[in-house]
Amino acid sequence: MIDVTGRVLEVLYDRREGFVSPEELSEAAGARQERVDAAIEQLRRLGQPIEFVPPHGYRLRRPVRLDGYLIERDLRTRRVGRNVLCFDEVDSTNDVAATAAAQVGSDGLVVLAESQRAGRGRLGRAWLSPPGRNILMSVLLLDPHNTLPHDGLTIAAGLAAAEGVEASTGCHCGLGWPNDVLLDGRKLCGVLVELHTAGGRRCLVTGIGINVNACPSDDEVDQPATCLADHAGEWIERTEIVQAVLRRMDHWVGLLAEGRTESLHGAWLSRCGMLNRRLTVLRAGQRYVGRVLDISPREGLVLCGDDQRRIHLPAAGSTVLREGRG
Ligand code: BTN
Repeated sequence: MIDVTGRVLEVLYDRREGFVSPEELSEAAGARQERVDAAIEQLRRLGQPIEFVPPHGYRLRRPVRLDGYLIERDLRTRRVGRNVLCFDEVDSTNDVAATAAAQVGSDGLVVLAESQRAGRGRLGRAWLSPPGRNILMSVLLLDPHNTLPHDGLTIAAGLAAAEGVEASTGCHCGLGWPNDVLLDGRKLCGVLVELHTAGGRRCLVTGIGINVNACPSDDEVDQPATCLADHAGEWIERTEIVQAVLRRMDHWVGLLAEGRTESLHGAWLSRCGMLNRRLTVLRAGQRYVGRVLDISPREGLVLCGDDQRRIHLPAAGSTVLREGRG
């Protein structure tokens, strides 16, 4: 969306705490009143809750619908978010992104939805999120030369989510291997990286679910969840969080693709309290027990087993069963 409609949305969004008169809107959008009216109607059809209260004018009410134009403006990324698509309802944003991989120019595509009919988490679990409250997002990366390791991308996306949330809301997030972003020890965000082939070329879809204004109750999920609104005590707007996460993702994906993983490794570990802890990990029906030596973008989890042997466990298919201090 560009031109008058985009400009009208921009003005209403930037001044969403108050009203904007029709005259101000007309001037800001550089368009006549009839054109502004048409833009308002178009935005309402797209689901934006715009109210008109005489004599004050127009106001964008909550919840503001996620919009590709608002997200793309000022994004200033190189690869991630070149094109941002927002849907009302899809089965899974990961599926929409994977389907787009066959199209020319789809590298860096971001897909968002207000709700998912079949949102999925790792290991066949469902990802639950009521419509219009949270961030359900997937990033498509074409990787014909195999420069993006699956574990590295999982780590990069989790770190990007933690940093993006922190930059946009001030909430400090921790990380748990393989894919948890934690707030006060509860799950705030999950990452699901899926590998595909499109036209014979490798591509990866990174799904990111962030609990912004709602989260499942403890009896709905295996791991206790939380959301940013509970932490802040108020409704949280999603657009700036999406932008901040995409910026950090762009940064880390750029380094990962160049094989420069040192800073990613360090930054991830600095938010993770698992080093030296004793973990039990289930993978392919087998249990692995040991002390955490390292968690790295290239090697995944590295444990020191009870027989002092090093055990390497990739993120895909691994579950941490129990945690205790070793
Ligand atoms: C997990 O922690 O198990 C991973 C959760 C990943 C959820 C996101 S929401 C957007 C994207 N679409 C999906 O179906 N799943 C991911």
